[in-house]
Amino acid sequence: RTRILFDTDPGIDDAMALAMLALDPRAELIGITTVFGNVPIERTTRNALALRERFGIDHVPVARGAARPLVKPAGDFADFVHGANGLGNVVLPEPAGALDPRPAAQFIVEMARQHSGELVLVPVGPLTNLALALQLDPELPRHVREVVLMGGAFGTHGHGGNMSPVAEANIFNDPHAADLVATAPWPVTFVGLDVTHEVVMTTAYLDELGAQGGAHGAFIRDITRFYEAFYEFRTGGGICCHDATAVACALDASAFVRRPGAVRVVTEGMAAGQTIQRVRGSQFPATDWDAQPEQQACTGVDVTRVLADFRRLF
Ligand code: BDR
Ligand code: CA
Repeated sequence: RTRILFDTDPGIDDAMALAMLALDPRAELIGITTVFGNVPIERTTRNALALRERFGIDHVPVARGAARPLVKPAGDFADFVHGANGLGNVVLPEPAGALDPRPAAQFIVEMARQHSGELVLVPVGPLTNLALALQLDPELPRHVREVVLMGGAFGTHGHGGNMSPVAEANIFNDPHAADLVATAPWPVTFVGLDVTHEVVMTTAYLDELGAQGGAHGAFIRDITRFYEAFYEFRTGGGICCHDATAVACALDASAFVRRPGAVRVVTEGMAAGQTIQRVRGSQFPATDWDAQPEQQACTGVDVTRVLADFRRLF
């Protein structure tokens, strides 16, 4: 089983990813950390606590994380995508369980040391908590097995950004943190829009999941209605499945094509939030790329397999 620490800003597709981590026997969920993103930190944290109870994983600790990006001003939220409450305005009972007392960055550092060599970090929101954890413990990378994150847009298959022509939202919301994570000496896989825009759950798929997928399937159908209304412009009906696709990659990368090469993030200016990869083997006179660790950018995905694997959990 893959030991996973899930860093999240729930978020409708975050909730779907958490359902996967709760239900998939290949996953051992060690902890959940929250971050600002789709909605403010108070809301993402409350949602994480409520979802933990909704999915019956009350034993998994939830630690609250960053309220704002490292450098750029605290910005806009995505309530037009996820609803004002972050879950498509579906209301969950007030959570009864308590938060872990540790800040997310400290929690990440302690879990990485406790599960040294085993832990896979799966961040699916802005990368602020991971960056703070790196600052807290510069030795963190040697304890972490890998980072598999939802974020980035590398421009393959004509997929650009979703916040600007070049920037994906999680990276855009804290580009300085993302560049720290991309250039730290640990293996990072970017599950970006190049693949997540390909993983479309159609209206028919969601309706069938809602009707035949038990209580959890029905819940996911409910929360995705709002999301579907937003994504109609891109899918013509249905949703792009971002965060659960990152979980799929963390559990089994064999459904993905990964392209190796150092990755940097543009932190300022009109291209802020752009992810750029120096593809392995390419030569450029600018040598500052040579010192960067090699990471992986997903450029292909077996959509049928990812959708079937998700459906089978319900
Ligand atoms: C990412 O941004 C958020 O809105 C989603 O939850 C996902 O993590 C997609 O760009
Ligand atoms: Ca997210």
